[in-house]
Formats: sequence, C-alpha cells, structure tokens
Amino acid sequence: MPTVELGPSSLLWRYAGDTRIAFLGGTIGLLQLMYPAIGAGVLEHSNFFEDPADRVFRSLPRILGAVYDGVASYDTGRQIRDFHRSIRGTDAAGRRYHALDPATFWWAHATFQFMAEQVADRFDRHRLSIEERERLYLEGVAWYRRYGVSDRIVPHDRAGFQAEWDRVCTEVLEMNEAVRFVLSALDAPLPPMGDRAAVPAPLRPVADQPLVRRLLRHPSRLVAVGGLPAAVRERFGIRWTSADQVQLQLIEQTVARTWRFLPPTVRWQPSAYAAWQRERGTVP
Ligand code: HEM
Repeated sequence: MPTVELGPSSLLWRYAGDTRIAFLGGTIGLLQLMYPAIGAGVLEHSNFFEDPADRVFRSLPRILGAVYDGVASYDTGRQIRDFHRSIRGTDAAGRRYHALDPATFWWAHATFQFMAEQVADRFDRHRLSIEERERLYLEGVAWYRRYGVSDRIVPHDRAGFQAEWDRVCTEVLEMNEAVRFVLSALDAPLPPMGDRAAVPAPLRPVADQPLVRRLLRHPSRLVAVGGLPAAVRERFGIRWTSADQVQLQLIEQTVARTWRFLPPTVRWQPSAYAAWQRERGTVP
C-alpha cells in the first residue's frame, strides 16, 4: 500500500473535520451498533441507555485529534487504542468480543472513513474523481495506522474496501437491542446537546430550544436512516419510502448549495478549526 501524508493538503483534512459530518452521525452510530461486538460493547461498557449520543459526542474531538493533532496525533491514536483494552466481554448470544479485535476495531473505523467520503458525495458540490476517492481512502488507512492496532485485515485499496463493506453489511450486521433503541429514539424530538464540545459555539444557544429540537426530529430521522446502505435497510425492514428519498435529496442539495455561506466557526469542528489556524494561519 502506498504511504500518504496526512496534513492540510490532504483530502481527509478537507472532509473529516467538516461539521457536515453531523449529518452522518446517526447513520454511522447505527452501522456501528449493528456490528455485534460493538453493539454488545457499548451496551455493557457505556451509559448508552441514559444518553445514546453521549459516546459519539465525547469521542469525536479525540477521534478527530488523530487526524488533526499534527505530531501529537500518534499519541492521541494510541491513547484511544489503550482506552479500549478493557472493553471486552460476552454478548447476549454467548459470543466473546473485544473492542481491539482487528476486524471489530476496523469496522468502527470503516464507518468513519465512510462518513468522510459521504460528506463529499452527498453534501458537497465537488465531485470526487476516481483518483481523489482512492487517495481519500488511503489517507483513511494512514489515519487508522495512528491507533497502532494491527492493520493486517485492512483492505489495500478502495475497491477492496467496498467489497468488505458490502460483505459486512449483508452478512455480519444484525438487529439488536441497541439498534432498536436508537431507531425508536429517532421518532422522538432530539435530545438537548448545546453543551457538547463537538457542537460549534455559534449553534449552542439554538441547539437546545424545544421548538428547534422538535422541528429537527423528522429531518434527523430522514438523514440517519437514508444514509444507511439500502441493503441494510431492506435486511432489517427499516421503513423508507420514495417520499422519504425525495425529501432526503432536497436536504442534501440544500446543504451542498448553501454550506459555503456559513461562517467558518460553524463549518468546521472546533479541533479542525484550531488545526487549520495552527498550520495555515487561516481557515478555508
Ligand atoms: C476506530 C475505532 C474506534 C475509535 C476511534 C473509538 C474512539 C473512542 C473514544 C475517543 C472514546 C472516548 C474515550 C474517553 O472517554 O476518553 C471511546 C469510548 C468508547 N468506545 Fe470506542 N472507538 C473505536 C472503536 C470501538 C469499538 C470497536 C468498540 C466496541 C467494541 C468501542 C466501544 C467504546 C465504548 C464502550 C466506549 C466508552 C463509552 C463511555 O465511556 O461511555 N469503541 N471510543
């Protein structure tokens, strides 16, 4: 596999810390929880039922740190790995799991690579060329190597990634208690989230308004469920209509066309914003 640089000129810097990743949060949360070992690990080792989004919000600044922290990103990656040493156990079906099992840890990461690519494909006006898609993939592999977890099962190229992604979606993912819980939470108003570090400061005062949380319920469900691969929705009988599809496309196109008019403090995650300032003295 060719070695690639992860810095301000990488595509990963352009997409991973873009606040539009928020539109993928529900989808990748579901795809992670559907992976049996991750669903079990999260149920057993986190405050999932009290606050299902807490793990994502708390983890995100550190996860992006492994992309944007410069020389410190290797330490950030290894700290993340070491945090998971004790996340192990036996799931409801009696299968043993460990977060650092290479296939399990890779699947969690695969969803983050999917997230960065989907920001470009669905919420941005730029169309990735074949070469750019390949480069973004390889940069995602360089990101994974910062964790110091075995990379022996990591696909060598974007085509290999797609094959393994499709296999996991059709053969490995399963419905479980955690997934059912998130799907039913998507039918309720959004929880308050204004005090989370991953919410850009200008959005915090509005994020907690009850009316805003109620209005965002339907679009949030559309974006979370609509982002799932169709094969996954069909396998688990998750409701999705052609009217949903039309509304989702409207949301994607609106975001793609208007995003550039928002201030940089909203467009970038705080850790990415700080990294652009550090490396370039300015924010794209
Ligand atoms: C690339 C893969 C992964 C990354 C980047 C990642 C990242 C993180 C981070 C940054 C945290 C927060 C640590 C802290 O609070 O200091 C965390 C917590 C956690 N992770 Fe992961 N993780 C990954 C894979 C996994 C996997 C495969 C599992 C399950 C099998 C898992 C289960 C958990 C659990 C249960 C917590 C604790 C949440 C809590 O404290 O409530 N993670 N993860």
